Amino acid sequence: MLAAYAALISPDDPLSGLEVGDRPDPEVPEGWARVHVRAASLNHHDLWSLRGVGLPAERLPMILGCDAAGVDDEGNEVVVHAVIGDPDFRGDETLDPRRSLLSERFQGALAHQVVVPRRNLVPKPAALSWEEAACLPTAWLTAYRMLFTRSGLQPGQTVLVQGAGGGVATALIRLAAAAGLRVWATSRDEGKRARAVELGAERAFESGARLPERVDAVMETVGAATWSHTVRSLKPGGTVVISGTTSGPNPSATELNRIFFLQLRVVGSTMGSRTELAQLLRFCQVTGVRPVIDSVLPLEKARDGFARMASGDLVGKIVFTCR
Ligand SMILES: NC(=O)c1ccc[n+]([C@@H]2O[C@H](COP(=O)([O-])OP(=O)(O)OC[C@H]3O[C@@H](n4cnc5c(N)ncnc54)[C@H](OP(=O)(O)O)[C@@H]3O)[C@@H](O)[C@H]2O)c1
Repeated sequence: MLAAYAALISPDDPLSGLEVGDRPDPEVPEGWARVHVRAASLNHHDLWSLRGVGLPAERLPMILGCDAAGVDDEGNEVVVHAVIGDPDFRGDETLDPRRSLLSERFQGALAHQVVVPRRNLVPKPAALSWEEAACLPTAWLTAYRMLFTRSGLQPGQTVLVQGAGGGVATALIRLAAAAGLRVWATSRDEGKRARAVELGAERAFESGARLPERVDAVMETVGAATWSHTVRSLKPGGTVVISGTTSGPNPSATELNRIFFLQLRVVGSTMGSRTELAQLLRFCQVTGVRPVIDSVLPLEKARDGFARMASGDLVGKIVFTCR
């Protein structure tokens, strides 16, 4: 079957280790299910994997990709939950110490077929297209949990989203606006700032710009490049929810004094549970909110999609289709 996979690890030139070619059809272990993938979406996680973050060389070749929607062997239309946990673990899967993400230990979703534990399949609502459904399990689920489980935000409060163009960031803007929050966003790029307003942000600012007033919470995925601005943008008692560090994990100023003196809360967040994924699918159905798709390419052209993400020149999700 056709797949996009990591053949080599290269911390400095991640695309050099990417291959798009033939891989063996997967075996289906007891209790697992095969999904014939109709659409799969790209995440920054796939670039991290090619750099060797969370993917040691001894696990190669590894099919990349966390996000897929497709049809199982029984003909059910499904969305794949990408958090693969210990079968004996009960409760919120994101807290399972033995969890991994699809494509870290088990072969990933950028392929014509993917196999996952049967419990990781969630029914796909008919109202969502294959491309839309394939955007939800990682970036959109992460945004859902950041906003509705981890932030403590209430409708009518103000949230700042850093790095407006990204997959998680566009999800944050859409979901927060639909939930009645006042959304402000930052981006380095004027065109992306205009798009952020089209997507539901009340205002968009240049990265690092002083805001007209301080906000109740900041959603952070950019990391080092925006951290000082994030902390300085919060009201006393405000909350930063962080789920990623695209620009690096070590900010030049940690702002520790400001964090304790203004009694700020720094909250980590990662992926979301299967229950949250089902809730997100219902949220999209009920509100009519749909994922922001930057581009759709056939899986054969996966390299072009990876290059686009590596350049940072995107608004929303890159989706690959299998026909
Ligand atoms: N913890 C989890 O479960 C989880 C889940 C999903 C994603 N993540 C992490 O969240 C991050 C975003 O993921 P994604 O898939 O949304 O990635 P993406 O689509 O590639 O996000 C790119 C965005 O990051 C911003 N950015 C990048 N470098 C920047 C810099 N130096 N300064 C300012 N902004 C910069 C850009 O915003 P502008 O160009 O608009 O300024 C760009 O639009 C990644 O680090 C990813 O690993 C974590």
